[in-house]
Amino acid sequence: MTLEGIDGSGKSSVAAALRRELPRCLPEKSFIFTAEPTESDEGRILRAHLTQGYGEGDAARAMKMEELFLFLADHARHLAERVAPSMARGEIVISDRYSDSTAAYQGVTLKEIVPDPLMWIREVSEPWNVKPDLTLLFILPPELALERLEARPGKERFERLDFLKEVDQNFRRLKELEPDRFVLLDASRPAEQVENRALERIANLIEDSS
Ligand code: TYD
Repeated sequence: MTLEGIDGSGKSSVAAALRRELPRCLPEKSFIFTAEPTESDEGRILRAHLTQGYGEGDAARAMKMEELFLFLADHARHLAERVAPSMARGEIVISDRYSDSTAAYQGVTLKEIVPDPLMWIREVSEPWNVKPDLTLLFILPPELALERLEARPGKERFERLDFLKEVDQNFRRLKELEPDRFVLLDASRPAEQVENRALERIANLIEDSS
């Protein structure tokens, strides 16, 4: 199961609530909480990458491509070393961001570099992916997300209105491609309501599949 959405959509605080509540609500199940980018070497390199500018021309194009492959490398290691082994042990894995973030975000950065980057990224990453059975997509107007982000210290590369609007469109497109996997959550509602809704959707899916 995965949590996806634009920066500032409140995923990470819901992830913290799920980490606290799910083991209490479903004590017979084992949960693993994880996130991308990870804390691995690839993840650390990526975070350093995200605080730099791209520069111009060919150098910028190369850097955007490098960034995609760093995200894919981080994801591949995450899948092989953490997600797949946990699933094999019968644990329920909940990831704060996963491969849809790569398709949605790098689907914007690579726009003028490859045709239809969102579809291309889905294709190239297919051999290194295990599809989640449920993706909670946090939907929030990008203007509101940016307001929330402005209250936080530090600023990452992707925290700009025009960019977040395109990422939001890409997430919606991913949902259209696989409507059964995605559940939309209205992230403009009070935090407690969003948390309860997320908890309810996850618990329902677990109950239905057991
Ligand atoms: P994240 O750590 O979730 O953001 P935050 O700092 O708000 O907790 O992710 C860092 C940034 O990386 C975020 O702007 C989303 C972006 N990202 C991608 O561009 N591609 C990806 O594949 C992933 C996993 C994240």
